[in-house]
Amino acid sequence: MARLSERATAGEIEEVRVRTLGRSGELTLLMRQLGGLAPEERRDAGRLLNEIKQQIEARLAELKIRLQQEALRRAVAEPPIDPTLPGLGIRRGRFHPLTVVLEQALDIFESMGFEVAETQDIEDDFHNFSALNFPPDHPAREMQDTFFLGGGLLLRTHTSNGQVRVMESRQPPLAVVCPGNCYRRDELSVRASPMFGQIEGFMVDRVGAVTLADLKGVLGEFLRAFFGPRTNLRFRASFFPFTEPSVEVDISCLLCAGAGCRVCKQSGWTEILGAGMIHHNVFRAVGYDPARWQGFAFGMGVERIALLKLGVDDLRLFFENDARFLGQFPAAGLERV
Ligand code: DAH
Repeated sequence: MARLSERATAGEIEEVRVRTLGRSGELTLLMRQLGGLAPEERRDAGRLLNEIKQQIEARLAELKIRLQQEALRRAVAEPPIDPTLPGLGIRRGRFHPLTVVLEQALDIFESMGFEVAETQDIEDDFHNFSALNFPPDHPAREMQDTFFLGGGLLLRTHTSNGQVRVMESRQPPLAVVCPGNCYRRDELSVRASPMFGQIEGFMVDRVGAVTLADLKGVLGEFLRAFFGPRTNLRFRASFFPFTEPSVEVDISCLLCAGAGCRVCKQSGWTEILGAGMIHHNVFRAVGYDPARWQGFAFGMGVERIALLKLGVDDLRLFFENDARFLGQFPAAGLERV
């Protein structure tokens, strides 16, 4: 008992209680032995033990009350809570600008009658390359471009696999956009990232029903809806294994509207996407008869159109996820997500 100071903690008090009055406490054991004593001895010893017990209980209770008072005093001394202060507020999350831009683009294509089909990121050589008419020694297949996963699998290097996946499982007429992530062994830099988004689009119908002019019409419609009604576009001859003819599409520079500035290197134009008429070999690979079917395809980078639309000049900003950067862009119009 003497060992319990005035400032004993709750733990110390409890420890003493258990040691003395607990079920196998010292005093409890002594009381249990009373039965073995002669009657007079038992009376005296019983009285003595009871007295000791009461003293211990009283002392423990006193120390406990002191503890409670101490706690109360401390609580009162602390600065009071002011319930009239404004709350901390809950910051609401918002969609990432790349998500917003992607959804806006898909909305426009859907409004033109395209359906959205997501296809897989993990592909085999056939769907990412061979069926798209890449020759066996094409540089895009090489180690420095493609992430190979082993077992004949790889991370798709473009969303053009979506064309193959959709066409091999369905029959024309088709008007489909395939959004998704693509992967290439690039360092993250101002203009490139090892993972990036693309939107693939294609339309297939009877020979003569879908022409290069339709491609220009669809893309013009999309680009004006996406970048603004005064956006001009032009086709430049180009090459892709899976289209013939192939074109690269430029839009009039968004900054100078075609007059020429630093961003468009005085040309008035900015490259925006690749496109063309689907190569006969692609149709053959998916089991379509090129004498019956004809179509166009296009592919564009999600980050690329986002940079231009939002006026951002460094791709890395999209991936750093600094809330101060991300919070600058409107997140409205996402009701379909
Ligand atoms: N797959 C191409 C790339 O990743 C983009 C592309 C170009 C897709 C032309 C197309 C196309 O469908 O017709 O760079």
